[in-house]
Amino acid sequence: MQMRGPLPSGFGELDMTKMPRHVAIIMDGNGRWAKAQGKGRTAGHRAGMERLCKVVRTSSDIGLEALTLYAFSTENWKRPRPEVEALFALLVEYIRREIDELHRNQVCLRIMGEIQYLPAAARREVERGCALTAENTGMVLNIALNYGSRFEIVRAARQLAQRVQEGTLQTDAIDEACFAQALYTQGLSDPDLLIRTSGEQRLSNFMLYQLAYAEFVFTEKHWPDFENEVYYECLMQYMHRERRFGAVGKV
Ligand code: IPE
Ligand code: IPE
Ligand code: MG
Repeated sequence: MQMRGPLPSGFGELDMTKMPRHVAIIMDGNGRWAKAQGKGRTAGHRAGMERLCKVVRTSSDIGLEALTLYAFSTENWKRPRPEVEALFALLVEYIRREIDELHRNQVCLRIMGEIQYLPAAARREVERGCALTAENTGMVLNIALNYGSRFEIVRAARQLAQRVQEGTLQTDAIDEACFAQALYTQGLSDPDLLIRTSGEQRLSNFMLYQLAYAEFVFTEKHWPDFENEVYYECLMQYMHRERRFGAVGKV
């Protein structure tokens, strides 16, 4: 893990030997934040986008290898059409505005999800951003868009079955490593830490396979209020956990 300079404001000391390599965040609570402010949901999503910018910067500054953000689930299509459109418009705005800085900081943009169903402008922008930053060697920014974990698992099973049928894969060769390579997260380590904002304690169809041994941290803060101090608290909670992976602990 490489530190790029002084820790961002709001961060005390961090034990770099205990830092997570990969953090995944379910960014929840934009709607409730907006309601509490007497604003509409779109204003909440805009504030959420501004928060996302800051969290990405901080995550890269503290030397994370990967940051995965849940931005749009396969279930989020159930929302009113204007809200869905506003979310994708904000995504386009974010990438257009930030991609050069991300690129300068060696961030590698990746998307997980079925992006062919996204509005054309959003799809174009993410494809351009991913292509531009593909060779970068810094933090992987993995954004989950039109993502559903059950679909991801079924899709992987289907791909492997296809290869067996074609005779290019032996059934016996399908082990956990092989299966993991068929998931969107191919080549990424599993998240060490999952954070969900806004008090909800559920996964909402997020990374069911990859989170098998992650530490979960929940905060009551709504996503737009997820300031560096709150992020720091979550990291501190993680660092105080004892990860046993099924073995005997220290006590
Ligand atoms: C998270 O905030 C953003 C997305 C799911 C896209 P919400 O929009 O879910 O906010 P709440 O849960 O209604 O407060
Ligand atoms: C999960 O949040 C999806 C994202 C953060 C993109 P939701 O707000 O959609 O989840 P539920 O419906 O409360 O479970
Ligand atoms: Mg929500």
